[in-house]
Amino acid sequence: MKLNVIFSPVQSDELFFTGKTTVVIDVLRASSTIIAALENGAKEVVPVGTIEFAVKVSGGMFGGQTLLGGERNTKKIEGFALGNSPSEYTKEIVSGKTIVFYSTNGSRAIVKAKYSDNLFICSFSNIEALADHLIKLNEDVLILCSGDNNFFSLEDSVCAGKLVKEITGKNSNVILTDSSNAARAMYKTFGKDIKKMLRETEHGQLLVKNGYENDLEFCSRLNGTNVIPVYSGSTLKVLK
Ligand code: MLT
Repeated sequence: MKLNVIFSPVQSDELFFTGKTTVVIDVLRASSTIIAALENGAKEVVPVGTIEFAVKVSGGMFGGQTLLGGERNTKKIEGFALGNSPSEYTKEIVSGKTIVFYSTNGSRAIVKAKYSDNLFICSFSNIEALADHLIKLNEDVLILCSGDNNFFSLEDSVCAGKLVKEITGKNSNVILTDSSNAARAMYKTFGKDIKKMLRETEHGQLLVKNGYENDLEFCSRLNGTNVIPVYSGSTLKVLK
């Protein structure tokens, strides 16, 4: 099993993912939010690549059963029911609902990787469960960091490195590429205090500035959930 890391979606195009097993990471905050929504009983999350498409898709769905969620420039989008704070996606609000979800980097990275054979979502909260599943699957894995407007983001790369570390710790039959090796080294350097690391990143600082400091605590949660979002038929659901 070979583990590879792509540090920014700009490094690849849609067709590159055809037939691959891909893991998309956007720690701050899309992947953390998607996992929280599904953990709290959302029926499904539909990631979309544009706000216009989110509005169009939700218009064709049953009213009351569908919620629009996500952000632009970290803030809730006008007309959307939910922003991109994982704590907004409570049982009371999302249980049984379809969430049509747009975010600047995360949902667009997922849409980019849609031709993958297997497509999973990862954040710090589900790393152990996902590592166990990937080991069982025993396929080569591409870890796609959503990055920050096509630039490198430390939080996604450190999370990728933690996933690599978790898998290599349990399976000696793993081949690392230069990028997965580098990601693992980044986790070793920056992963000792995840909340501190998140707070020091560029995006973490922007979230604090915009009043979302509590989200850093939420997104730093390591393990604790077995929810693995899996993409199939244009939606993300809990892997059974
Ligand atoms: C994104 O997809 O760019 C992020 O989730 C942005 C955010 O913090 O809301």
